[in-house]
Amino acid sequence: MTSSGQNPEKAPAIYGVVGYPVKHSFSPDMHNAAFKSLGINAAYLAFEIKPNALPGFLKNLDKLGISGVNLTVPHKEIAFKRLRCVSDEAKTSGTVNTIKNSNGKLFGESTDAYGLLASLREAFKLTSLRNKSILLLGAGGAANAVAAALASSGIKTLYISNRTHEKAVRLAEKTEAATSTRCVAVPLYDKAVSMIISDVDILINATSSGLKLTDKSPVTGSALRKGLLVYDMIYNPPVTCLLKEAKKAGAKGVNGLGMLLHQGARAFTIWTGKKAPLSVMRKAIKGSI
Ligand code: ATR
Repeated sequence: MTSSGQNPEKAPAIYGVVGYPVKHSFSPDMHNAAFKSLGINAAYLAFEIKPNALPGFLKNLDKLGISGVNLTVPHKEIAFKRLRCVSDEAKTSGTVNTIKNSNGKLFGESTDAYGLLASLREAFKLTSLRNKSILLLGAGGAANAVAAALASSGIKTLYISNRTHEKAVRLAEKTEAATSTRCVAVPLYDKAVSMIISDVDILINATSSGLKLTDKSPVTGSALRKGLLVYDMIYNPPVTCLLKEAKKAGAKGVNGLGMLLHQGARAFTIWTGKKAPLSVMRKAIKGSI
C-alpha cells in the first residue's frame, strides 16, 4: 500500500478521523469526495476510539495500515503529548489534529489555526487581520489551538474571555509571552465584555457553548453591535444562539464550516502532496448539514 494511494491497482490507502464520539463528523464526506475527484485510491473512515485507547491506537497506526488521521475532540492534546515529531504549529498550540504516517514514522501537525485564519479572511472578505482587535471566547482546547496564530497575525490586541477566568489569564499570559502581541484576559461578565466589544473588530467563539440547541449564547446579545464580525467555530448546529443574537444586533455572523473546510484541505495536502479540491470539499460538507 502506498502512503498517498496513487496506484489504483493496489488496495486503497486508509485515512480517517479519530474522535469520541465521532459519528457526527463531516470529515469522511469531505475527504472521500476529494479523493474521488482527484482519482486517488484512498478511503477515509471514522474511528470511534475512547481516550484511554488512543495511545495504543496511535502506536499501531502503521500495523493497521493507516496512512494518516485527523484527530478531533477529545484527542488533540493527548496526541500532541504522545508524538515525538511534531510541527512548529503543533508545538505552539500544544495540539495535534493531523498525523501523517510515513513508513511507520508518525508526524503530527496542527491545521486548525490555518483553517480559522483562512476562513476568517474568506468569510469576512479581509485581506489581512493587521491592526484588528479580536475577542476570543474560551480557553479550552479549541481556543488554545488558535490563540497564538491569531496573535501572530499582526493584530493590535487579543482579548480572551472565559467562564473560568483564571484559564483566560493563563492563556493570555502564555500567548503574549510567545508572540509579543498585547493579550488581555477579560472577565466573562456582561459589563466587562460590552465595554471591550466597543474596541473589538472580530469576536470568535471557541467555547463549546452552542453545540447543543438548548445552549445559551456565551455573551449576551445586548453586548453585540452593528458592524461587529462574529465567527462561531461551531458548525453543527449551523445557526447557534450566538449567531442568532449577532443577526439581531446587526452584526455579521458566520459559522465554523469554513474552518472545517480549510483545516481539512491543509491535512489533505499534507497527506497527498496535492492541492486540495476546495470546491468539491465545500460542496460535500454543505450537503452534510
Ligand atoms: P474544546 O476542546 O472544544 O475547546 P474544552 O477544552 O472542554 O473543549 O473547552 C470548552 C470551553 O468552552 C472552555 O473554555 C469552557 O469554559 P471553562 O473553561 O470555564 O470550562 C467553555 N464553556 C463550556 N460551556 C460553557 C458555557 N455554558 N458558557 C461559557 N463557556 C463555556
